[in-house]
Amino acid sequence: MLEDKFGRRFHYLRLSITDVCNFSCEYCLPDGYQCDSDRDFLSQQEIQRICTGFARLGTSKIRLTGGEPSLRKDLPEIIEICAKTPGIKHVAMTTNGYRLPQQIHRWVDAGLNSLNVSIDSLDPRQFASITGNDKLDTILQGIDIAISLGIKVKVNGVLMRQYNGNDIDSFLAWIKHKPVTFRLIELMQTGNNLTFFNQQHVAAQPIKETLLEQGWQLKQRALTAGPAQEFQHPDYQGEIGLIMPYGKDFCATCNRLRISATGKLHLCLFAEQGLDIRPYLSMDSDSAFEQQLVELLGDKEASHWLDQGMTGATQHLAMLGG
Ligand code: GTP
Ligand code: 5AD
Ligand code: SF4
Repeated sequence: MLEDKFGRRFHYLRLSITDVCNFSCEYCLPDGYQCDSDRDFLSQQEIQRICTGFARLGTSKIRLTGGEPSLRKDLPEIIEICAKTPGIKHVAMTTNGYRLPQQIHRWVDAGLNSLNVSIDSLDPRQFASITGNDKLDTILQGIDIAISLGIKVKVNGVLMRQYNGNDIDSFLAWIKHKPVTFRLIELMQTGNNLTFFNQQHVAAQPIKETLLEQGWQLKQRALTAGPAQEFQHPDYQGEIGLIMPYGKDFCATCNRLRISATGKLHLCLFAEQGLDIRPYLSMDSDSAFEQQLVELLGDKEASHWLDQGMTGATQHLAMLGG
């Protein structure tokens, strides 16, 4: 099993398959996607090798991320490669959701188990102003189809002062009768959102206190759970999650590793320099690749130190899929 020197275990791999995105969310890609010449994304063969190597070291869950993963035409094949790898029990994906209604059936047929969809506001005008497009209705329709197909859905909203700081109630009303986990994510500082971050960042801690006053109960954290704190309420079908990367001990429960679309292993979301694993993907022996992974993991730090004033080194999260 992959384990670091702090005893954290990594059963969960986040695999970015493209850094291209067709949205331009203000906090992530304010100027839209800057196309660079390096579009040499991981091939299906390389993805297969990664899945097999990680699975043999104890990884059981793979989350496909982007950019926007559905922009890869071979997404169904990639889902199938992950799902068919012995040892992989759960295939998840994080998407902006705009291709959900047309594509969800194919993804489910290929073996997808769960979806995280980004929706920062349920107000169509605000949604358009944040993301640069007007696809909110399509995305909501896609979520309903996914639920009807038995897919577990989480919705991510980034907390921003101007947009949804006072708008949590509309999300609460929405999940009252919908089996969706709505996660509020504290805005993270990245290399290209500094001004926006300074204007819009608000802490989620007061929201946590309000939720507790309203009868929401903090759920027991599963041993394998990630950094989100999750809440449930007897009157609600849906649940709430809070992701507070600036909070105390956030990194202590870190259970994931990341691979970028061009094959860089990132031991932390905020570790700027990824470790290039591509050379190892063409090695003849599986065990040599696995041995390299185990050695690379020895470098993982205890925490990202964001809470101690380190700035987010990552340029934008589309590079690494969050
Ligand atoms: P599950 O736990 O598998 O549902 O997924 P997740 O919450 O890790 O995935 P998702 O892609 O939906 O990410 C939601 C938000 O959490 C994104 O903004 C991520 O950047 C953030 N996030 C996820 N994991 C980490 C982490 O390890 N560190 C930090 N700082 N943020 C994270
Ligand atoms: N801060 C917090 N969350 C972010 N995301 C992208 N950029 C940021 C940021 N700077 C979120 C998206 C998506 C998830 C993968 O990451 O909203 O839901
Ligand atoms: Fe883990 Fe890094 Fe995320 Fe902290 S920021 S929880 S160390 S991946």
